[in-house]
Amino acid sequence: MIRGPIRSDSVEAEGYRGLRTTLSYTRLPEGRRVVLFTSARRGEGKSTTALNFAAVCAYGERPTLLVDADLRNPQVDEVLGATGFLGLADFLKGVAHASLADLVVPTRVPSLDLLPAGGPVANAAELLSRPALAELIEVARASYDWIVFDAPPVLPIADAVIVSRSVDGVVLVVDMKRTPIEAARGARDLLRAVDAPLLGVVANRSPAKATAYGYGRYPG
Ligand SMILES: Nc1ncnc2c1ncn2[C@@H]1O[C@H](COP(=O)(O)OP(=O)(O)O)[C@@H](O)[C@H]1O
Ligand SMILES: [Mg+2]
Repeated sequence: MIRGPIRSDSVEAEGYRGLRTTLSYTRLPEGRRVVLFTSARRGEGKSTTALNFAAVCAYGERPTLLVDADLRNPQVDEVLGATGFLGLADFLKGVAHASLADLVVPTRVPSLDLLPAGGPVANAAELLSRPALAELIEVARASYDWIVFDAPPVLPIADAVIVSRSVDGVVLVVDMKRTPIEAARGARDLLRAVDAPLLGVVANRSPAKATAYGYGRYPG
């Protein structure tokens, strides 16, 4: 179970604000704010980072949508109390009356809405490949300044690589204590192979910093 979201006045929030500034001013194309967080494997901090990044965007009074695209393991739904709700999978299936506005749920953070994973699904990769995903993102752009995707890991399944083609930017979370460098490189290479818009790396559990969170560029 992940914790969160962090408080606006916490030390960690300062780190996420730095990440937000870096992405919006130096990495993302002007006016493009659809960001996906992924990592090589499970348990490296994708959901924690996506949730807290989205919260910090919302604390900045920017309407923000957090999308739980980890259809097989919807952790952010769990922490935000939206387990079992209709959501992304139902939109992609074209379920009747499943418009974006009907599916999003407000969270306890003002300005932060959640699109739950929905489902359950047997065919996550096939659903995420549908053109409806790009349609959903275009509709969401009209209502939200930031759209933040929490994704599954890259190495075991195709889902995150598939979704990465539809977003403005992809951030690779690396667990500095646990992710082997070969795994991080493997994830990077899979994303590069589909021309995913890779923006950089978040160094999670970075021992170099007093706080638990950090960010940085991919070395080389
Ligand atoms: N920087 C961190 N400091 C402390 N605990 C963390 C940190 N990042 C992640 N965790 C914890 O590690 C576990 C896995 O993190 P999670 O965000 O669910 O990873 P993923 O989404 O990549 O599977 C969770 O229990 C989460 O609370
Ligand atoms: Mg996760």
